[in-house]
Amino acid sequence: MSRNILITGGAGFIGSHVVRLFVKKYPHYKIINLDALTYAGNLENLEDIENEPNYFFEKANILQPDQLSEVFSRYGITDVIHLAAESHVDRSILSPLDFIYTNIVGTVNLLNVAKEQWKANLSGHRFYHVSTDEVYGTLGDTGFFTETTAYSPNSPYSASKASSDHFVRAYGETYHMQYVITNCSNNYGPNHFPEKLIPLFINNIINNKPLPVYGKGENTRDWLFVIDHARAIDTVFHHGKNNETYNIGGFNEWKNIDLVKLLCKLMDEKLGRQPGTSEQLISYVKDRPGHDLRYAIDATKINKELGWSPSVTFEEGLAKTIDWYLANSQWLEHVTSGDYQKYYEQQYAER
Ligand code: NAD
Ligand code: TYD
Repeated sequence: MSRNILITGGAGFIGSHVVRLFVKKYPHYKIINLDALTYAGNLENLEDIENEPNYFFEKANILQPDQLSEVFSRYGITDVIHLAAESHVDRSILSPLDFIYTNIVGTVNLLNVAKEQWKANLSGHRFYHVSTDEVYGTLGDTGFFTETTAYSPNSPYSASKASSDHFVRAYGETYHMQYVITNCSNNYGPNHFPEKLIPLFINNIINNKPLPVYGKGENTRDWLFVIDHARAIDTVFHHGKNNETYNIGGFNEWKNIDLVKLLCKLMDEKLGRQPGTSEQLISYVKDRPGHDLRYAIDATKINKELGWSPSVTFEEGLAKTIDWYLANSQWLEHVTSGDYQKYYEQQYAER
């Protein structure tokens, strides 16, 4: 079956991996990447596929419904995979409104345009909303987030994502739009903007800069290789049941400090430095306000119902990630010039 799929946020970290997978795996689909190219969007992420005949890029903003309607009409969009968002918790603490506009208002704009454009046959179209495990709030030392865990977001970022999830669900109930929502754990991998823990620390180790661990480093995250997230999105897009939620994760929990020490060890090996060199860069700094203690996804449903499971171990994924950053120093230089320096100063100067 032929489809014209609108992927929003396709120039970002996860979006670029989803775009690449769909463009290569489904040459009979048209893949339209709609992205506003904010600081997090980078067309360098897609240079290897930009000339493929089934790939199209549109610079447009989900805050501009007219731009969305025009793109929908011109391409005859049949389905949406929505990833465009403001995605960094620390930035959401600095400026919550940006998150409310992009993540909530932007999502509702997209829902409205899709509803209008698909009104002749709503059941023939799928709206796929990509969300996060952070909507569930925080866990204590035990337990997992399942699809029925109550939402309890603690940061402006997670509150905005939770709200967008509710709107997608509400459009399903109220207007009978067909949707799927996935809530995924922390991703890592190539093309990750160096404001998040793993790429920030890789970049700082390369440059011999301090590694700012928040609090005591005891917070725990559940890490998934980005290509496995893209594979899961492919699986749910094609086989997920309408109006269902699926959690995505790899049962791979790491305390921040243990992860940072592993990263330091691997980086010393890759850079030919004496064992223990990078660990000396660890610097414990003031904690993030409202810092969630622990995230852990129960991914049983997607595994049992749709047969998805991760393809790489954490050790393999982390090694591939480090190799990518070491081989792509130009990419790192480009994204850390200009505004990045201002953000870094503001975020870490007082800590
Ligand atoms: P990212 O910040 O790397 O990319 C976001 C992309 O959206 C960028 O290309 C940016 O230019 C674009 N964008 C932002 N505002 C826009 C607007 N108004 N109009 C059009 N485009 C706009 O984010 P990411 O880490 O790739 O996350 C993608 C999605 O996955 C987000 O919805 C995020 O909430 C979700 N998610 C992320 C993680 C994670 O670990 N990074 C985990 C689970 C879910
Ligand atoms: P991050 O990559 O920002 O993802 P999220 O907040 O969405 O989980 O952070 C991952 C963990 O690393 C989180 O517990 C906060 C911590 N962290 C630090 O200790 N120092 C840092 O400089 C950053 C960016 C994060």
